[in-house]
Amino acid sequence: MLVIVKKNYDEISKEAAQIVADRLRRKPNMVLGLATGSTPLGLYKELIRIHKKEGLDFSKVTTFNLDEYVGLPPTHRQSYNYFMYQNLFKHINIPQHAIHVPDGMAHDIDGFCDWYEQEMQRFGGIDLQVLGIGANGHVAFNEPGSSLGSRTRVKTLTQETRQNNARFFKGKEEVPRYAITMGIGTIMDAKELIMLATGSGKADAIKAAAEGPLTSQCPASVVQLHRKTFVIVDKEAGAKLTGLYPGSWKSSFTLAR
Ligand code: GLP
Repeated sequence: MLVIVKKNYDEISKEAAQIVADRLRRKPNMVLGLATGSTPLGLYKELIRIHKKEGLDFSKVTTFNLDEYVGLPPTHRQSYNYFMYQNLFKHINIPQHAIHVPDGMAHDIDGFCDWYEQEMQRFGGIDLQVLGIGANGHVAFNEPGSSLGSRTRVKTLTQETRQNNARFFKGKEEVPRYAITMGIGTIMDAKELIMLATGSGKADAIKAAAEGPLTSQCPASVVQLHRKTFVIVDKEAGAKLTGLYPGSWKSSFTLAR
């Protein structure tokens, strides 16, 4: 695991974008795993900038998103389908058929989840997966207590997550109760992971993920078992990590573990 501590949100976004762009240039037909939430927005903005200014080519890429709310159609403004189109896909040259976001309106949800797993395999598995982290240590919608070997499936959202995500809806009651999410086992199969976090509200979660015990109570802690993970945080989100030098972020400190 490489823990990279940067000065601010702008810098973590650029650092993550450089890694994605590098992998894409080396392997134009890479399979890219994408995340939603406010954290990766800066990364997506920077990828759009690199696409427009430097010609970063997405024409051969295939993407798979982590999760989607059950019951929200792609036209719903808070659906993750909508989010991805607005914040990334419509600004880059990715073909429509190469985009995979779970279908929150699927009639046969279990069948859909099996198909989603098979599609990832059919494309050779995810090369690089982008991840955020919830304040309670969730990744995608794998809430505390999720099986560490889980695959794509339906999960019940915790009250805490619904509360945290209420800011995007008219109120907490509007936040769906269920979501389709890649499992922890699915995420662990990705060849590389980038976990992003910003702000003091994520400091405990990052501490637990990178340095706490490996436990399903903090699903993000499973990254400790992964072969190649970048944890990229600003100084606030990284504030509780041990092993950092005072003022580490000034030199864009990297802690190799
Ligand atoms: C949601 C998403 C996660 C995301 C998390 C944190 O629950 N399903 O993938 O990591 O929120 O979101 P934010 O980046 O807005 O803090």
